[in-house]
Amino acid sequence: NLNLSCVMVIFGGTGDLTHRKLIPALYNLKYEGILPDNFAVISVGRREKTTETYRNEIYESVKSFSRFKMDDEKWKELSERIYYHRQDFSDDDGYIRLNDFLNELDKKYNTNGNRVYYLAVAPESFETIVGKLHKHCMADNSNSWRRVVIEKPFGRDLKSAQFLNQKINEAFAEKDIYRIDHYLGKEMLQNIMVIRFANAFFEPIWNNRFIDNIQISSSEMVGVENRGGYYEKAGALRDMVQNHMLQLLTLTAMEPPVNLETESIRDEKVKVLRSLQVLTPELVKKNVVRGQYGPGKIEGRGVPGYREEERVSPDSKTETFIALKTYVENFRWSGVPFYIRTGKRMPAKSTEIVIQFKPLPEILYFKEYGIMEPNLLVIKVQPQEGIFLQFNAKRPGTSNIIVPVQMDFCQNCHAGSNSPEAYERLLYDVMRGDSTLFTRWDEVEHSWRFVDNIAQVWNDENTEISKYESGKWGPKEADELLARDNRKWWNIG
Ligand code: BG6
Repeated sequence: NLNLSCVMVIFGGTGDLTHRKLIPALYNLKYEGILPDNFAVISVGRREKTTETYRNEIYESVKSFSRFKMDDEKWKELSERIYYHRQDFSDDDGYIRLNDFLNELDKKYNTNGNRVYYLAVAPESFETIVGKLHKHCMADNSNSWRRVVIEKPFGRDLKSAQFLNQKINEAFAEKDIYRIDHYLGKEMLQNIMVIRFANAFFEPIWNNRFIDNIQISSSEMVGVENRGGYYEKAGALRDMVQNHMLQLLTLTAMEPPVNLETESIRDEKVKVLRSLQVLTPELVKKNVVRGQYGPGKIEGRGVPGYREEERVSPDSKTETFIALKTYVENFRWSGVPFYIRTGKRMPAKSTEIVIQFKPLPEILYFKEYGIMEPNLLVIKVQPQEGIFLQFNAKRPGTSNIIVPVQMDFCQNCHAGSNSPEAYERLLYDVMRGDSTLFTRWDEVEHSWRFVDNIAQVWNDENTEISKYESGKWGPKEADELLARDNRKWWNIG
């Protein structure tokens, strides 16, 4: 008995995220027949335009970015329910008009006063918008549900995140706050728990007795694109590690929850974050590498260095790459290093979790043939979605040569496979009130604690940042970080 009926208000309706992700996701949900009939959208923006112009603009976006082809009839049904509303985010009159408009649409579409407020705006505006919604009683949920969706970044350190959270809490209860980490909407992230807890041959060996190390990598080929203004203040640490990378780590390391309810899962994730090794300044200097891309080549095409990008300072110290080693200090993982690596302008777009198993005793084949490749289990998140296993077998022939062989399960490789986009799942979950794939406040809090320790050291010390050529796997220090432990990065891709 799910009541999905609602009006979705998108603040930042003319922005990139709305055009590339949100409206196409709504279209895909419509295409699949998942959107309720009692539904409408108000896109709020600061620019002057009519609803008709707006609908034409988003029509083009859906054509370019949706995973389903344009079906004019379905589009008509959806777009008739999408309206444009102009206002400044700090203008009280605008909210009064918006509220009147919402009441009118509630009647027209029978949406019971249920509302999703989606903040697809720059973080500077989060507080203002939430404050005004509160002031004008638009967050009041006494007769209907009212939920707020906050895009990242949720603060820029623990202190600002706490402040922002407090402001949001003045208007909305924790259960109605949906903090987006779009990685959680990706198919394979939802699959990590299934792979671990639904397979007899993985779960028993998922611990420090059998696992040598875990590598969590997310590489991109794109540079900073047109986001220099934002990125200069964020860097890879805040942009990727505080959220996506730590979410990947928690799902990989968490204990089995007592059941599949939202809070049970989140409780286990928080325990992992609380067990993360505290990075002292010495550890940061030793185990965290930061890099910045210089000019180079991506797929044969010359690209500029980070410092030459638009709205980036020519002597910027912002990192576009980070590699680090840390530990989850609990019974299951004691002694197993977790290596995290992410960066822009690298040779491939790929996100994967590599589980490297411990070597066997060095007898039998090892004695005879020397070093053998380790067993690997790779959870491939993107672009391919699947599982990859590497193990050793005899090469066919008269001599006993042992070689690594691979089993590769790809769930989105065959023709016709078309995995839903992260935002489809996430928007649908907001409407039905399931916040499992969103970050609870204490997850945000603990991940900032971890990240702040690193940021603090970087802030205090005045050393040069390591450069890497665009199109390479980061600076040489990243390789040295593992070489020191007699290990190497696996790039399975
Ligand atoms: C975003 C970051 O959260 O994730 C971007 O702000 C990054 O800098 C993006 O490019 C990567 O997401 P995906 O889904 O392409 O891996």
